[in-house]
Amino acid sequence: MTTDKVAMISGANRGIGLAIARELARRGYRLSLGVRRPGNVPADLAALGDARCFRHRYDAAEPKAGDDWVAATLARFGRLDVLVNNAGISRNVELETGSDADLDELLDINVKAPFRLLRAAFPALKAGGSGRVVNVASMSGKRVLGLNAGYQMAKHAVVALNHAVRRAGWDHGIRSMALCPGFVNTDMVSGRNELDMRKVTQPADLATLACTVIDLPNTAAVAELLVNWRHEPLF
Ligand SMILES: NC(=O)c1ccc[n+]([C@@H]2O[C@H](COP(=O)([O-])OP(=O)(O)OC[C@H]3O[C@@H](n4cnc5c(N)ncnc54)[C@H](OP(=O)(O)O)[C@@H]3O)[C@@H](O)[C@H]2O)c1
Repeated sequence: MTTDKVAMISGANRGIGLAIARELARRGYRLSLGVRRPGNVPADLAALGDARCFRHRYDAAEPKAGDDWVAATLARFGRLDVLVNNAGISRNVELETGSDADLDELLDINVKAPFRLLRAAFPALKAGGSGRVVNVASMSGKRVLGLNAGYQMAKHAVVALNHAVRRAGWDHGIRSMALCPGFVNTDMVSGRNELDMRKVTQPADLATLACTVIDLPNTAAVAELLVNWRHEPLF
């Protein structure tokens, strides 16, 4: 078993997940990246080598994917300290428009897959006595501003999942945080021409925030972190 702490990050090949993976590596964590195409991980992470950066195929659409990835991570490293539930999608499902299939996909990928991953990882996180979980939610999990009811429902559910983890994990030293940014400069919002991507939150800044909380002791828990790029009443 490695003496370094081990972190699993889903959707670590781009966007917020990639930024958090890079920051965790910089802080000395061994990485287990859950990605749909393990061969496509950016070169700087791949260059860390298999001993520091394990890559495993993880497709959140497959119900057993979390079990397989956790088992492979434990087989590789013998321990698990951090789970970053990051992989997610955006589909537009408003009350009067949008398909049932898209609503199902939003709930499958953004809610049921993180739940399954947590269920699979929980015994190993408990065993260490100081497990850390970051559930990447959204400001859309805290308030309803736009019209995308499907995404808003899914992200409110992620915040609820986060509190369920806090409740069940607290006495085992697990500390879980819902990371709730507004718009972030990633592919997910790159098509929104109304946004100046230089003015929204940058993934590296979110990574600094998330990893600072991950590194705090059990006695300094942060349940939710709301991150604003513009002024709004909720903070
Ligand atoms: N960007 C924002 O403004 C914003 C704001 C608030 C919250 N968030 C949340 O932040 C998280 C990361 O999003 P991002 O902004 O970094 O978006 P992104 O750049 O589009 O990245 C999404 C990530 O999720 C992965 N993913 C999607 N479907 C998957 C599946 N079925 N199985 C495994 N991985 C899958 C993608 O992998 P592939 O490369 O294989 O597609 C990719 O790594 C999401 O949960 C999102 O809801 C984003």
